[in-house]
Amino acid sequence: MAPRTNGIGVQVEDTKICVVMVGLPARGKSFIAQKAQRYLQWLSIDAQTFNVGNYRRTEAPHPSADFFDLGNAEGEKRRRAAAEAAMHDMLDWFRNGGVIGILDATNSTKERRKWVLDTCTKEGIEVLFVESKCDDEAMIMANIRDVKLTSPDYQGQDPEQAAQDFKNRIQNYEKVYKSLDEDGDENDYTYLKIMDVGSQVIINRIRDYLQSRVVYYLMNLHIRPRSVWLSRHGESLYNLDGRIGGDADLSPRGHQYAQKLPQLVRDSVGEDRPLTVWTSTLKRTISTARFLPENYNQLQWKALDELDAGVCDGMTYQEIKDVYPEDFVQRDEDKYNYRYRGGESYRDVVIRLEPIIMELERSEDIIIVTHQAILRCIYAYFMKKDQSKSPWMNVPLHTLIKLTPRAYGTDEERFSADIPAVSTWRGKGSTAKHENPTPGANI
Ligand code: ATP
Ligand code: F6P
Repeated sequence: MAPRTNGIGVQVEDTKICVVMVGLPARGKSFIAQKAQRYLQWLSIDAQTFNVGNYRRTEAPHPSADFFDLGNAEGEKRRRAAAEAAMHDMLDWFRNGGVIGILDATNSTKERRKWVLDTCTKEGIEVLFVESKCDDEAMIMANIRDVKLTSPDYQGQDPEQAAQDFKNRIQNYEKVYKSLDEDGDENDYTYLKIMDVGSQVIINRIRDYLQSRVVYYLMNLHIRPRSVWLSRHGESLYNLDGRIGGDADLSPRGHQYAQKLPQLVRDSVGEDRPLTVWTSTLKRTISTARFLPENYNQLQWKALDELDAGVCDGMTYQEIKDVYPEDFVQRDEDKYNYRYRGGESYRDVVIRLEPIIMELERSEDIIIVTHQAILRCIYAYFMKKDQSKSPWMNVPLHTLIKLTPRAYGTDEERFSADIPAVSTWRGKGSTAKHENPTPGANI
């Protein structure tokens, strides 16, 4: 049997990793866990978060701060039961083929961490501890205000009282909390310690490629507010002909879009702040971005070039069906995995976009002018779209999409340039040059 590989081409036959979050409440553990899960799933790595708080809530939906006091025997018992239930489900999930499980809890004592480590090790699961340590009072208060007051724990409660109770909860945890390896006796653990949102990181005993991918990703995260603007190039001459790939010029309407883009961007930014512009190396994206203000830094990326259609480059869908009928059918059956002869699949594109995603995570405001397939993949990352569906998404021409990452998701706004353009969307089985997207295809 051929070895199973994950999305990044690494053999995963034997690799199972439990990422164990560590840290006091309101330190961004769930934020980090969710982002890691989204990134790994985007790479087609089977990853799942197990949030101990959700298990605890079934037993104690609205606990007050003293539930979390070590002296509270009943509270302690229920918290342990919640941790055990989460661990039990996670181990089952691993036995069914899961690759990276993320145990999202405070895991704030050495005893609890040892228990997690021993339990996982017995099952052949590697353990990577990830601690978020932050002592910035103002940031912790902002986190409480931003996400904790809307937690189901405090549903219907007065916000002032809820904030005070959450601070008391943190104090109870502080009484027993030990930072990872604080006493030097956890030195043989594999861990990443992120201090003050990445201003300092400590990496200890990272063992393999997959662990290092996760660590590298987490090191690049930041939480400064910013947005990412996405646009396809203006309508091209190939778009008018229904031809794929190539390096065609813009159509007259495509040029109109290029002229209108700076205003569209300015209106959506809301204030006068310069963005960084990324384009592909193909003429149509460079042309589309050419009127953006000179104080916007521009960068061309080969990784943003359109999906390579190999021998089909420059053909219409009808021509592809005529010349390569079997390929045409295969592509429709599994569009995400189908690789054009001498070209790429959507899966290949995701892999080549990984450095783009990494750089995007590190960056501030960016506008990306790129191509339909590339935009689908980037959009799927931010909006957590299923990879089997994302290649079928409709991404209209002459439309600017603004994505704003928030604590637990991404907000989306769209700005139409009101300049007509052909549709390049294609439904399953169709060879039409221009087809109206079905309602379900609209992202
Ligand atoms: P709890 O233990 O109560 O579940 P938590 O540690 O999981 O808390 P989150 O719910 O993830 O905390 O808190 C989210 C908030 O933390 C967001 O506002 C996010 O911006 C912020 N945040 C994200 N990363 C970090 C970090 N490394 N340090 C501090 N705050 C962060
Ligand atoms: O206090 C934050 C919290 O997420 C609770 O909702 C949850 O019950 C607890 O942490 C889980 O961590 P522990 O392992 O300390 O019980």
